[in-house]
Amino acid sequence: MSAWFWLMLCFLVRSSEGQKIIRAEPGQNVTLPCEAPNNKDNTIITVEWIRPGLDPEHVLFYRRGHLDPDNLDPSYKNRTDLQDRQMKDGDVSLVLTDVKMEDTGTYECQVLQEGTNSLMKDLICITFLEVRQP
Ligand SMILES: *[C@@H]1O[C@H](CO)[C@@H](O)[C@H](O)[C@H]1NC(C)=O
Ligand SMILES: *[C@@H]1O[C@H](CO)[C@@H](O)[C@H](O)[C@H]1NC(C)=O
Repeated sequence: MSAWFWLMLCFLVRSSEGQKIIRAEPGQNVTLPCEAPNNKDNTIITVEWIRPGLDPEHVLFYRRGHLDPDNLDPSYKNRTDLQDRQMKDGDVSLVLTDVKMEDTGTYECQVLQEGTNSLMKDLICITFLEVRQP
């Protein structure tokens, strides 16, 4: 069995496990839950929440202790935060305030972590947010 096959299989399993659907109504605040695996020692270097297809695609960018407000998609400025800035137990959940219909879409969380002897950037959560009138 080729290595490619196992890589593909692994990716498929991981992304289907990670897929969540969150529903909200306009004006609400929502949390998109996400947890970095194996993060007992706070080894997180960057957290990137993106909406693939937007330009720029970042809705939140955390790097070495700070939220970086530059280069975010303009419609998300001031509306995103980490649920826990200390990221205790690897909590990298996204808080999005005052949601709008246009926020409906897929959100991905990528985390760069220090591994045992390397840096690893992983796509760890894929969430679909659906905003609609009650
Ligand atoms: C959403 O969060 C913001 C900032 O924390 C707060 O001011 C606002 O009251 C919240 N809105 C709702 C509907 O809970
Ligand atoms: C939005 O962000 C800008 C720049 O960081 C800040 O000056 C402004 O007060 C913020 N607005 C709100 C409503 O939080």
